Amino acid sequence: MPATIIVGTQWGDEGKGRFTDLFAKEMHLVVRYQGGHNAGHTLVVDGETFALQLIPSGVLYPHITPVIGNGVVVDPAVLLDEVAMLEARSIDCSRLKVSGNAHLILPYHQLIDRVTERHLGKNALGTTKRGIGPAYADKAARVGLRVQDLYDRDIFREKLALVLKDKAPMLAKVYNQLSPSVDEICARYLDDLAPRLQPYVADTINLVHDALEAGQHVLFEGAQATFLDLDHGTYPFVTSSNPVSGGACTGAGVGPLHINRVVGVAKAYVTRVGAGPFPTELTDEVGEAIVERGHEFGTNTGRKRRPGWFDAVMLRHAVRVNSLSEVAITKLDVLDAFDEVRVCVAYEVDGTRLDHLPDSQSVLHRVTPVYETFPGWGSDLTDATEPGHLPSRVHDYVTFLEQQVGVPIRLLGVGPGRDQYVQLSS
Ligand code: IMP
Repeated sequence: MPATIIVGTQWGDEGKGRFTDLFAKEMHLVVRYQGGHNAGHTLVVDGETFALQLIPSGVLYPHITPVIGNGVVVDPAVLLDEVAMLEARSIDCSRLKVSGNAHLILPYHQLIDRVTERHLGKNALGTTKRGIGPAYADKAARVGLRVQDLYDRDIFREKLALVLKDKAPMLAKVYNQLSPSVDEICARYLDDLAPRLQPYVADTINLVHDALEAGQHVLFEGAQATFLDLDHGTYPFVTSSNPVSGGACTGAGVGPLHINRVVGVAKAYVTRVGAGPFPTELTDEVGEAIVERGHEFGTNTGRKRRPGWFDAVMLRHAVRVNSLSEVAITKLDVLDAFDEVRVCVAYEVDGTRLDHLPDSQSVLHRVTPVYETFPGWGSDLTDATEPGHLPSRVHDYVTFLEQQVGVPIRLLGVGPGRDQYVQLSS
């Protein structure tokens, strides 16, 4: 029952999509298990760039069934637009399956996300304003509406009326905003979106288990990342779901014994969008150079990402909380132009060295990184396709990273193209 999870090990935007796409060749199912259209997975296929928000990256392969699991929050309009965008580019989406248990993002979720961020002022979290947090909050409060509710008009209307009884006055009185009415939402969701979504709605739990029992390969594709995880991230500067590997179990309906490979994806440096602590952040010209060379601007929101050096302390933590069996490094080529490359191996606070992530966030805010510095390799890695093409300084750097994190580094991304990677061991 070969099941693999691919998970981000930093603050997102590690380039998970490109490895998902690489693994997809041998997969039958690719399953998204959390998040929503806050994700942005960029894939470059035959020189064409695809930016996916909600549909699993495997959709680009005709032999794969892309699955949106129960743990995802779905804005049906966004999903249908994405299907239309892909089909206009001759990508067949008819195999797509969406769990009836997935929760819906409704118009008031997006409204609440926007106004609460504005209300927080300088304390804003920097969310993607897609309604993700408010939709998950309603799920936890047991007032969410699910995809399956779209197909029971009475239930949908009844649940919606109940929720809006609270939300509409709250939006009006606290935030001076008008929520769409029950009738307006019903017209849009039940009359327009529901019939168009219906062909994709499926029992995804049994679909995944049938595939596993038939010995088919299933890839669980995480969105966002370990340090944006609601439980394991830098709370409250996190997303509202569980991107860690355990999230695949709850968000797709499989137990941990089904999983036999967990691949953590890490960029050769670190970026983060939105607010929150970031020990290795670079606010100087080196950071600017990373942003420029790495095109570090949000796929979805266009926001400039905050850059920093590679943080092995974070990655060691990510190895633990995800049970990573291996690591894949992306964007190594972005560092080609640097005279020296740094790796944070520990933190220091009040004269004490910390080899682990502190469990107190107040301490995390105060740590300073302890760096090891490596000479740059001074050559262009973008054409490298096998280990022999890599300069010895790159091998030294990667071996060092491997020792730091304690699990094998099996893949190195050296450019955005589908074939721009080096496999180090199998
Ligand atoms: P939300 O997921 O929109 O609620 O945003 C919460 C935090 O997660 C913010 O700091 C966002 O910038 C961050 N975030 C959400 N999705 C992504 C992503 O796909 N990549 C990187 N950061 C993300």
